[in-house]
Amino acid sequence: MIPLSVPNLSGKEWEYIKDCLDTNWVSSVGSYVDRFEKAVAEYTGARYAVSTVNGTSALHIALLMAGVERGDLVLVPNITFVASVNSILYTGAEPVLVDIDPRTWQMDLSLLEQYLHQHTRLNNGVCQHKETKQRIRAIMPVHVLGNIGNMQQLLDLANRYHLTIIEDSTEALGTRYQGTHAGRFGLAGCFSFNGNKIITTGGGGMLVTDNEQVAKKAKHLTTQAKSDPFEYMHDDAGYNYRLVNILAAMGLAQMEQLDAFIQHKHQVNAFYRDFLRTLDGVQFQEVIPGAEPNDWLFTILHPRQQDLMGYLIQQSIQVRPFWVPMNRLPYLQSFTYVSESDFSFQVYSKGISLPCSTSISMSQLEQVKSAILRFHHEYC
Ligand SMILES: Cc1ncc(COP(=O)(O)O)c(C=O)c1O
Repeated sequence: MIPLSVPNLSGKEWEYIKDCLDTNWVSSVGSYVDRFEKAVAEYTGARYAVSTVNGTSALHIALLMAGVERGDLVLVPNITFVASVNSILYTGAEPVLVDIDPRTWQMDLSLLEQYLHQHTRLNNGVCQHKETKQRIRAIMPVHVLGNIGNMQQLLDLANRYHLTIIEDSTEALGTRYQGTHAGRFGLAGCFSFNGNKIITTGGGGMLVTDNEQVAKKAKHLTTQAKSDPFEYMHDDAGYNYRLVNILAAMGLAQMEQLDAFIQHKHQVNAFYRDFLRTLDGVQFQEVIPGAEPNDWLFTILHPRQQDLMGYLIQQSIQVRPFWVPMNRLPYLQSFTYVSESDFSFQVYSKGISLPCSTSISMSQLEQVKSAILRFHHEYC
């Protein structure tokens, strides 16, 4: 089986993890936690980084930092992994699901602007839904597949409507827009290090911010809101969201290889685009001027999605469909879906992610290419 996107542990992972085991620093404090946080902060250019147990918990904390509360509304794209929406629900707020731009597969900012214009007003500096009077506190752009939309346009909208930006940049470590790293456009950005991400700690996450208060509060909340170093004093209902030293050690080793991983992703992307662009009906995720994606997970739209997926799986090539759009998940159907043409469904019903691990070999890529060309020859 040629896997879709698997960890690449070819750096100092063993050495650093062994160091944790040898020194007994395996749990939630230790030098690797600090070093990993520093490495991510430096890489992204953020002033502060707070590690978490996964990307979902980083998003949850970031929303709390934005002041999102029960009954608020949070704007989020309709095409995302479900964790973005769940993190909103954890706060008691409700998601407003915004359809995507069919070219970039990111939140459609024109549609968003139209929605804000028609359905909201500023009330004492707070963006409020006209009919329900709910507060719209935050907007969560998701850098889908490591691509990135027009962040300048998003910043302008957020300023105009007094919205706090919390970036779901979980898939976008290494992605930049006009030279600024993803995750650095709003109050906080969140990364994920789960098994299929561009770097992995098995499971893990990170919140980055330039705001010292936010960084301190986030660290505090992720460590059970412990307020005394000795006594068991806690000043809030905190969370056990810390990343353990042993996983941070792995993360540090992975960070040392990130540039090489991104290079490899670019090569895989170029390889696939080169032959796929000659095939009828195949569409790619567009990259807008100023965007520098990390090319995390190579995905195409194909008119015969189901047949091609079945064919490739039969040839032992692992592929995945795109996420079911959020508005189609039964438990989310009661929430507002802002859309005119339901591009989410169009992208979902054609999307196929192809093998693109950072360790994928040229001969494996050639196998995938041959299989796709055979499919087109036989069935298209
Ligand atoms: C877009 C998106 N949001 C959120 C998450 C949640 O991250 P994690 O799995 O680390 O909790 C992921 C990754 O799984 C993701 O792809």
